Amino acid sequence: MELDFGTVYLDNAATTYPKPEAVYAAMDRFAREVGGSPGRSGHKRSLEAGREVLLAREAVAGLLGVADPCRIVFTRNATESLNLVIKGVLASGGHAVITSLEHNSVWRPLEALARAGTASYSIVDCDPAGMLDPARIEEALLADTRLIVCTHASNVTGSLLPIGEIAELAARRGIPLLVDAAQTAGRYELDPGGMGVQYLAFTGHKELFGPQGTGGLYIAPGWEIDPLLHGGTGSRSESSLQPDFLPDRLESGTMNAVGLAGLRAGVEFVLEKSIAEIRRHEEELSQLLSEGILRLPGGVVYGPREWKERIGLVSFNLHGFTSSEVASRLDEAYGICVRSGLHCAPLAHRTIGTLENGVVRASFSCMNRTEDVGRLLEALGDIAHAS
Ligand SMILES: Cc1ncc(COP(=O)(O)O)c(C=O)c1O
Repeated sequence: MELDFGTVYLDNAATTYPKPEAVYAAMDRFAREVGGSPGRSGHKRSLEAGREVLLAREAVAGLLGVADPCRIVFTRNATESLNLVIKGVLASGGHAVITSLEHNSVWRPLEALARAGTASYSIVDCDPAGMLDPARIEEALLADTRLIVCTHASNVTGSLLPIGEIAELAARRGIPLLVDAAQTAGRYELDPGGMGVQYLAFTGHKELFGPQGTGGLYIAPGWEIDPLLHGGTGSRSESSLQPDFLPDRLESGTMNAVGLAGLRAGVEFVLEKSIAEIRRHEEELSQLLSEGILRLPGGVVYGPREWKERIGLVSFNLHGFTSSEVASRLDEAYGICVRSGLHCAPLAHRTIGTLENGVVRASFSCMNRTEDVGRLLEALGDIAHAS
């Protein structure tokens, strides 16, 4: 059965839709024609499944400019990758520094460690436009700081944070930097090795166009962490101990090979389109939308004004409406999908002063067209003028 909701989809920062045709085809091919368990058995289907996982690992490593694909560990999503590092690095205690734009996938694991009395953390404030002065990170470092965690781009303000400068100051103090690239992988050039980043968490289902349930982590040479999960890896099966080499050390249990086949096709799609072109297109759409909203009565747009300081999403409100009222009217009366509320990032909303009402967020992928912005602005015009 084909479901056609006839919608304009502008919730790509939550998960991209639609995926490129090649992604659906790759998953269909794996599920129907390959089907084996990767790296487990010696028969053809298992070997082919293992090859698919390897190709996906090589594709992601290529995208991130990482020479050794084994330094890419696959997980279910960015949340799992972030938990792996935060809980791995702070297992025996210590202090972490995070920014006030972090997602709950950073804040909650740290709060859980703090409540258990295992570790502590400090939050460094960004300004109300979502910009961070890296000197503030340096000021927050303590003698026992073991980890700095910073989002590359906020999923609320869209602002890009100065990862290069933070990496430099972290390196001077010998503290590893964990970057949350959930919003930038696929829409921004990433070179964790060149940037001096020790850990980089990404998710597969956003701008890499993979399916939900795929994601991963880059780990720089020399920065090992303990696994969260122990179990079968298809390697060193005679031993009761987890293998000590990557990626097996951190990849217990049967892999999501169907999803990874899709992820590889997504990464190849991004590389073929080119990240620079994706950025240019999304920037154009965001700018058009932002300018249109600011012309509406009561239209407010959040985040930095400079487009090179942000990614392709626009968070806004219409005076006199709650963010959820606007989102539900867009959905019900106009068939437009956006996201309202707090976007799992209450710290970011506290930073920009929208904790009570949240914001409406329209987020683009390279699949969106100028007409989508036109449809949204027309609908917002109706809503704003009807008030
Ligand atoms: C900045 C940021 N970090 C982390 C995540 C978590 O990603 P996932 O749900 O794929 O684990 C998201 C998802 O929205 C995000 O926007």
